Amino acid sequence: MSSSSTLRPGLLRILSLALLAVHVLSDVTTGIPDAAPPGFEEWESPIFLPAPDVKGSGDWASAVARARTFVKGLTLPEKINVTTGVDVLGRCVGNTGTIPRLGWAGLCLEDSPLGVRFADFASAFPAAINAAATWDVDLIKARGVAMGEEHRGKGVNVALGPMTNMGRVAAGGRNWEGFGGDPFLSGAATVATIEGIQSVGVIANVKHFIGNEQEHYRGGSSAPQITSSNIDDKTLHELYLWPFAEAVHAGVGSVMCSYQHVNQTQACQNSKLINGVLKEELGFQGFIVSDWAAMINGVQPALAGLDMNMPGFVGYGVGEQNNPDPSTATNSYWGAALIDMVKNGSVPESRVDDMVTRTIAAWYKMGQDKNYPHVSFSQLTQQTYLNGEKVNEHVNVQADHYKLIRKIGAASTILLKNTKSALPLSVKSLKRIGVFGSDAGPHPLGPNICSNGQNDKGCSEGTLAMGWGSGTANFPYLIDPLAAITQHIQSINPTVVIEGVLDDYNLKAQSSVAAVSDTCLVFVNADSGEGYLTVDGNAGDRNNLTLWANGEKLIQNVAASCPNTIVVQHVVGPVLVESWIDNPNVTAVLHAGIPGQETGNAIVDVLFSDSPQATNPSGRLPYTIAKQRGDYPADILYQSNEKVPQITYTEGVSIDYKWFDLKNIEPRFEFGFGLSYTSFSYSGLQVSKSRGRREIEALHRTSTTARSSAAASSSKLSSFPHAASSTSAAVSSAPVSSASAPVVSSAPASVSVSASASASASASGNATSTASAPPAGSSPVGDVGGPAELYKTIATVSFKVKNSGKVAGNEVSQLYIGPPNSFGVTQKALRGFARTFLNPGQTKTVTIPLRLKDVSSWDVEKQKWVQSSGQLKVYIGKSSRNIELQGTLNL
Ligand code: NOJ
Repeated sequence: MSSSSTLRPGLLRILSLALLAVHVLSDVTTGIPDAAPPGFEEWESPIFLPAPDVKGSGDWASAVARARTFVKGLTLPEKINVTTGVDVLGRCVGNTGTIPRLGWAGLCLEDSPLGVRFADFASAFPAAINAAATWDVDLIKARGVAMGEEHRGKGVNVALGPMTNMGRVAAGGRNWEGFGGDPFLSGAATVATIEGIQSVGVIANVKHFIGNEQEHYRGGSSAPQITSSNIDDKTLHELYLWPFAEAVHAGVGSVMCSYQHVNQTQACQNSKLINGVLKEELGFQGFIVSDWAAMINGVQPALAGLDMNMPGFVGYGVGEQNNPDPSTATNSYWGAALIDMVKNGSVPESRVDDMVTRTIAAWYKMGQDKNYPHVSFSQLTQQTYLNGEKVNEHVNVQADHYKLIRKIGAASTILLKNTKSALPLSVKSLKRIGVFGSDAGPHPLGPNICSNGQNDKGCSEGTLAMGWGSGTANFPYLIDPLAAITQHIQSINPTVVIEGVLDDYNLKAQSSVAAVSDTCLVFVNADSGEGYLTVDGNAGDRNNLTLWANGEKLIQNVAASCPNTIVVQHVVGPVLVESWIDNPNVTAVLHAGIPGQETGNAIVDVLFSDSPQATNPSGRLPYTIAKQRGDYPADILYQSNEKVPQITYTEGVSIDYKWFDLKNIEPRFEFGFGLSYTSFSYSGLQVSKSRGRREIEALHRTSTTARSSAAASSSKLSSFPHAASSTSAAVSSAPVSSASAPVVSSAPASVSVSASASASASASGNATSTASAPPAGSSPVGDVGGPAELYKTIATVSFKVKNSGKVAGNEVSQLYIGPPNSFGVTQKALRGFARTFLNPGQTKTVTIPLRLKDVSSWDVEKQKWVQSSGQLKVYIGKSSRNIELQGTLNL
């Protein structure tokens, strides 16, 4: 060990303790928050002390009781070992210490929101932004189950996802790790993902709490500049907190606090947010872990409610080492320092007890005390041995998840343009096809290696199927589009000429191939990722919203010679399309996002009607595509000389489509937009208020009973109530479809689920993964997630959808509520959706519940949700701007 790595942590510890003392005196005992710079005085976070102890609410009761007993027998160093990571050299990206005396093996925390990061023999799933683009909570849940199975199979205790930041800025580097620009859609996708992951006993981790909306100056303990996201209380509750609240209500076991400050106070030591909002207001029963090296001192986070310090060290590059026994670690803000804090009275031992109780409770609640697989891989190597120790057992956890990955890849593909019946293609009418762009082809050095030497997909080479950073996983293989297209065409007619120009810049070669092709497929992309890696000058966040690698020129150049140019975009978020979208030679455009390892097969399924798994596109945009960058309400702060660059969320709740509606700005493609190869018609809107409260409660009890028997068989179906039910006309006498007898479907798997199950079986096809039985008592009850009343259904909206075209397909119906809605603004807000499979000529009745929370707004004065009053507009549409039916709900 070098002298610097032994001396420096010691010095740092003294320094940090000195700093802590100052913080404790000035901030905690006097109640003065971190000072705001001049002009930002109103943006200060109040102090909320003490940290609420875990109560054992709802279905956490038995896990918390068992955890309390567990904790009672621990020594202080043993407790510390649960709270502090062993540093960076462990098997997983995060590892708590262990309690050998009790045979407690510690917890393995591992990325990512799309697979098991750094592992071999594991799958690379479609990114969360693609999951959101399916608008299908059952598919999203199936993805969660499959990812949970893979994490479990590798011995991961805590899967570091889902990520549910909101995509406030279109260029935000990590937007693709989350579910888009609307809190309701993000909430539904977050719930479905958590239910899936936790159904197989893995603790999900919802992140990053909160306001982590850009990569520039995002922070970390050793960062010289860290932004403050300044968010008002109403915006916090109605927008950024919404998916986290849904996650807590769904029983998420853990939360990760983010790097940056919120209202001047660093998120991981923000007592208002952790103690006040997460633990008190939302009644969160699990544990909150710091983002990696996000802590900037020790006492404040402990008092502010933080429960776990990851990965344990003070900061990246600051004396990183292996500390198998964190309670003796001195290169940590906690570890040995937390023992000192308890001993000198800065942190009460009861706070440490609560940290451990919450962590162990989550462990018990997921059933990890029984037969949980041991960690069988190492984030550090794919070799079998490391320093003579066997660290990788190469456990193959992929099962048949590739089928689901392909299905979601196709289901998340959004058809933005289709003229002259350009799509779908059929091989029998093809003679000569040209395939263009590096995005169509393989990665030159293989799917997981970058020519610039960066890990974590820190480059953009070959086809783009995920972004870069910690939100990635290794590709076990990567089916590129050219390979899949070639294979498909050859399987039907090996005489079709398939020529490709994969060089984005060789305009001459492109023109000559385009001129002789009857169909031209142009693949383009745009990448982004986490800020610790820079790719082509993009430090995480994108520098612009245009295509990468000469994309626009490539499209225009091919289209100049080819009257049937079909564009496929593999992009992490919105890209500007104005320079080419109206070109009449660009006959069709598919927006395919970043679909994971099966990307080539998935695009074949959408492009070709004769693919064995041909898929009529039904993906819908989970964000708005603007005509110009300046049309979005906010942008990245790229340059600042401030130590704490201030980012004030002045647009309030109006991000994405709400901003465009509010300001009357015409987008190019609005939120929720997506075309189909068939057409759908709507009729018969009925809005009915549910029964009175007493009746609601009675029904709730009944359906809870129904749920327990249905749960085992329906564990792949999301319990999110807005996974609306749909029934064919033939079974419309089933209670769920009857508008006059609204079903209280806040009960996850009540009668409405059995109806939804039939819809989903046809909509989603064969589910491809097997869920284990859910851990005992996994239903959301009690005050976990805020007042239970908020999650009860107060009205149902039903309508009929008919496939009026010639091709079978899914329709995504969207429910928006409109003014007056007490939101302080006048635009529509998404409050429900349903993806319904329909054969040509078929009609189904779709029923979508509205919960009390969905028709309420956050009252800043009263500090609670207040139901809107008067007449609420209810819109059913194919997108946020394409409304088919309108009705009213009198509240
Ligand atoms: C930092 C990232 O922000 C977070 O999302 C990730 O889980 C951790 N690193 C661990 O890799």
